[in-house]
Amino acid sequence: MVTGMVRTLIAGNWKMNGLKSSLSEVEKIVSALDSHPDNADCLICPPATLVVPMQDRAGARLNVGAQSCHPEAFGAFTGDLSAEQLKDAGASYVIVGHSERRSEHGERSAYVQEQAHACLRAGITPIVCVGESYAQKQRGETKDTVVRILRKSLPTLGSNDTLVVAYEPLWAIGTGLVPSAEEIAEVHLTIRNLLVELYQDRGADLRILYGGSMKPGNAAEILAIDNVNGGLIGGASLKADDLMAIYAAAVA
Ligand code: 13P
Repeated sequence: MVTGMVRTLIAGNWKMNGLKSSLSEVEKIVSALDSHPDNADCLICPPATLVVPMQDRAGARLNVGAQSCHPEAFGAFTGDLSAEQLKDAGASYVIVGHSERRSEHGERSAYVQEQAHACLRAGITPIVCVGESYAQKQRGETKDTVVRILRKSLPTLGSNDTLVVAYEPLWAIGTGLVPSAEEIAEVHLTIRNLLVELYQDRGADLRILYGGSMKPGNAAEILAIDNVNGGLIGGASLKADDLMAIYAAAVA
């Protein structure tokens, strides 16, 4: 399916990296964005400690997001942050269901779906992550795994709601390994078909990002694949030059 009308999203996930001193990278990104055409969105999801100061420096072209949220709006949940609080701090996107949260914090798909609903309640766009393990890939279970996880993780959308899906093969995260273009195309088409099944026409325009060892050297090839509407970038998003090289590939 051709999704030529969909605006590409280049999203950085800083994970548990970044101190106040890292805001100098953000200042470089903000000024570099001005020298590129404005035909793709740029987002950074820093650690929650940096959402406010990053938003203060973001200007009109850089969006700021967060990496997780609690399903409830407020209450006795020590150490957690709600979608409402993240929205209040300036976040417009929240990553939910990242494989590192699923494995390190035991967050299961039903919980991820609650988080996604919390984002929508707060007026935030959830980025719902999904991916297969290396063992599942070896057994030929990639597409079944992705569909099974997404069916349980994706929220019901109200008429003004939107969401983003990020396909991140677990074995590609932080490893330098990347699926072939054919493999990415096949999984993204499978996700597209599921989105259309679940959300009808709107599903054709929802963004599907690829994530896992996306770098300046492979971004152009990955971003050219059908139904790849952007990237969710870990390591390479920490350096302004690398993130902007990927952004440049998206707007070329
Ligand atoms: P890397 O780009 O470091 O492989 O990380 C991908 C990722 O997990 C983004 O959410």
